[in-house]
Amino acid sequence: MKGAVDLAGLPPADTPEIAFWGRSNVGKSSLINALTNRKQLARSSGEPGRTRELNFFDLGGAIRMVDLPGYGFAKAPKKTAQVWTKLTEAFLRGRPNLKRVYLLIDARHGLKPADETMMDGLDEAAVSYQIILTKADKLKPAELTAMEEATLKRIVKRPAAFPEIIRTSSTKKSGLDDLRDAIAAFTPEFSG
Ligand code: GTP
Ligand code: MG
Repeated sequence: MKGAVDLAGLPPADTPEIAFWGRSNVGKSSLINALTNRKQLARSSGEPGRTRELNFFDLGGAIRMVDLPGYGFAKAPKKTAQVWTKLTEAFLRGRPNLKRVYLLIDARHGLKPADETMMDGLDEAAVSYQIILTKADKLKPAELTAMEEATLKRIVKRPAAFPEIIRTSSTKKSGLDDLRDAIAAFTPEFSG
């Protein structure tokens, strides 16, 4: 629908939005593609720092998904990276129609210091977020369960964190229905 490189370029705040955030390369763009059954609706790549704008995708006028640039990328020039991160944070803090942030965490690596910093910001701004463990296909079921439990333990005291975790694999297309159900609750039809 639209890509924004500054706050003036944002679409009107007239439709519920959900945003996908997380470290660079965690699989945000891939998850949006998997959810929508499109190969490259959101441009994904093995090269961290692929998404450099706030990209808005309209789902039949009922809700928008927002693909955000990732944080923690080492390769991008520092100044450029700071501009994306500042814009993203300004968006997350000030967007009245933002219903939820999905914070993606690589299931193999779990929460990193950069993720904790971003959760501090979301808690402070009272922006509701839920963790998604991505690339679930890379772990054995028992490892995945252990990671989920360890991650839950670390977020229970966080005020804006939703106390349930979703696991997904974009390559194996697993967990997508759980996520779709969660997202449906934010559409006007569903919530009346
Ligand atoms: P930035 O835009 O740089 O912030 O990255 P991103 O979070 O949008 O990541 P992207 O979707 O571009 O995916 C990064 C890499 O991870 C790509 O090589 C994807 O193919 C791979 N990937 C994404 N999701 C999965 C998954 O569920 N399983 C596996 N095995 N690989 C995945
Ligand atoms: Mg991306």
